[in-house]
Amino acid sequence: MTTLIKNGTVVSATGRHEADVLIDGEKIAAILQPGTSAADSAESGAEKVIDATGKYIVPGGIDCHTHMELPFGGTFASDTFEIGTRAAAWGGTTTIIDFAVQKHEENVRECLDSWFAKAEGECAIDYAFHMILGGVDDAALKEMDALVDEGITSFKLFMAYPGVFYSDDGQILKVMQKASENGAMICMHAENGIAIDVIAEQAAARGQTDPVYHGITRPPRLEGEATNRAIQLALVAGAPVYFVHLSASEALERVAEARNEGHNVYAETCPQYLYLNLEDHLGAPGFAGAGYVCSPPLRTKEHTHHKDLWRGLRTNDLAIVSTDHCPFCMKEQKELGLEDFRAIPNGIGGVEHRMDLIYQGVVMGELSLERWVETCSTTPARMFGLYPQKGVIAAGSDADIVLYDPNAKTHISVDTHHMSMDYSAYEGFDIDGHVDTVISRGKVLIEDGAYHGAKGDGRYLRRGLSSYLI
Ligand code: URP
Ligand code: ZN
Ligand code: ZN
Repeated sequence: MTTLIKNGTVVSATGRHEADVLIDGEKIAAILQPGTSAADSAESGAEKVIDATGKYIVPGGIDCHTHMELPFGGTFASDTFEIGTRAAAWGGTTTIIDFAVQKHEENVRECLDSWFAKAEGECAIDYAFHMILGGVDDAALKEMDALVDEGITSFKLFMAYPGVFYSDDGQILKVMQKASENGAMICMHAENGIAIDVIAEQAAARGQTDPVYHGITRPPRLEGEATNRAIQLALVAGAPVYFVHLSASEALERVAEARNEGHNVYAETCPQYLYLNLEDHLGAPGFAGAGYVCSPPLRTKEHTHHKDLWRGLRTNDLAIVSTDHCPFCMKEQKELGLEDFRAIPNGIGGVEHRMDLIYQGVVMGELSLERWVETCSTTPARMFGLYPQKGVIAAGSDADIVLYDPNAKTHISVDTHHMSMDYSAYEGFDIDGHVDTVISRGKVLIEDGAYHGAKGDGRYLRRGLSSYLI
């Protein structure tokens, strides 16, 4: 099947230009200058022609932080791979990197195999895995080399959640030492979980059990402290470190310092930390704040007012926007913590809305169009070993393409979203811009407001090492 996309503006991380894009099968065959004989002959020969007048032609979004079916707090994240990846496609994301999970005393290989089994034949879009190591022991360390050879080239460690996913400093150092040998990237959840658990227990003992205390008991300073500690450990081990879901200015400062010193330190943030806050959302009346419980928590209005995260995205101290998509329904899931915020499963769903929400940064003048593409697609591909197969519109790359309409609008609501959630964290948001058409490896998934994909369209991606490592 050949498809020609005509009359649009191709946007990349480095610029924009009017161009036609020719797709042959699953790949981009050529970028053609409009009006030239090559473009004309492509038009006459193409089996399908898509008119992209007035639209941006951008590489499909890559969400490098999702948790489909994550086991957490006695329940599971509510999106299956089928539902979550279809929702992602609706929002212009054509690749996810999900986190396979190993916990204390579990076998890494068996855990990874169970993740393959969950995803196989289910996904609407292409998918890859990071591996969470929640029980670092000699066997897990040994398994890391084999995983890297098989395309699982990044490992997540937690300085939070003692007794669940937590690793102590010695375990972290050992994993980092292994990564410095085999070229893997270390993804770090940086919060001082031991101190947080003490503060949370003290709050609960005082009867402070509402959802807002989830945020109050996780001060930004303890994200900054853990971020600094992880950087120091990474420097000792000679390993790169990538901070996931960075939320606090204190953490961003530590990342920026390390980067200014020339170290292989990287970070992402997520839309929830750019748009939502502790008082209005986590502190919403009644139990509604439970829908905003995630870790790190939403920060205070005063904190977000400074717009440090937007600045970090501009300066590249924040390289990527992911979602940390980890949806739970209010009913029977978030409700597990009705009596005590510590029992609320942690996570917010948003895989469907990342491209739109971050495009809003372009509308507000916080990001350039090119930086939107870079943070949402190109850098995730480069950071996690998928470039140039993904993350760019170029001849030879996979034909993962989004036509984005800057003149259309998006309304976000539980009534219209495609995620398996009984609420939306962004309910009522009216966004300038809209995902118009979504193409994944040459197949049109979204067109004219309808889904044309099927479960099993998505393929597993074996990743290489990060392009950022020197
Ligand atoms: O609250 C969150 N972030 N839930 C998902 C697990 C994690 O820490 O990424
Ligand atoms: Zn985390
Ligand atoms: Zn996460």
